[in-house]
Amino acid sequence: MRRPFIAGNWKMNLNLASSVSLVEKLIEGLSGVDGVEVAVCPPSVYLHAVCQAASGSILGVGAQNVYHEPKGAFTGELSPAMLKDVGCRYVILGHSERRNILGESSEEVNKKVEAALAADLTPIVCVGELLSERKAGRTHDVVRRQFDGSLSGLTAEQMTRAVIAYEPVWAIGTGEVATPQQAEEVHLGLRQLLESRYNKQVAEAVRIQYGGSVKPDNAAELLAQPNIDGALVGGASLEAEPFLGIIAGAKN
Ligand code: PGA
Repeated sequence: MRRPFIAGNWKMNLNLASSVSLVEKLIEGLSGVDGVEVAVCPPSVYLHAVCQAASGSILGVGAQNVYHEPKGAFTGELSPAMLKDVGCRYVILGHSERRNILGESSEEVNKKVEAALAADLTPIVCVGELLSERKAGRTHDVVRRQFDGSLSGLTAEQMTRAVIAYEPVWAIGTGEVATPQQAEEVHLGLRQLLESRYNKQVAEAVRIQYGGSVKPDNAAELLAQPNIDGALVGGASLEAEPFLGIIAGAKN
């Protein structure tokens, strides 16, 4: 049985005080919740404070990016060990905003995934097609290419420690959510890809989150799909109430 996993991607939002206060509200709202894994991914400058505020609670903390080298002259970058050091458990990698705005390639994502796993961080590896690619009938091709490129060379053991997030780019921050059927079709394709690249056991173990305009009113239906194991939530994770509403949808 795959444990549902809901992660909030705060992107470049909030400030120090609002980050800490959001974590406090979430911890309060999560009391009594079990059977769901929950994490927030704040901007890197707030990671330490957020990890401290979340310490001892069920709320996990993740970063939004990492560099693949362990240390040295890489101005502006953070190593996996630094993220671990402040208390992170997760790191989002290959988000479409990093791929499309910052030009990150699957090859770079792959190095980061390996470095994250080596440091015992759980990578949340994002894949997803652009609207033009979906319209051209290329969704499965694009997702397969990103999967193979970003997860290249991982052993079965490493693969089972990673999380995949399917995020159709046209649904991110647009309010236009993929229908549960559209999402499930790609999630099933990813599960079949895991089976063909590894084996059935790996395919059944790896959690695949959906991301793209997930809100409290659409979460339960998406999360009820057999191959959707959680959500990566942007906008609706910036306030406690909608994020807790989505988590409630994962429980039902
Ligand atoms: P959104 O973002 O929920 O605001 O669409 C999701 C994401 O980019 O992870």
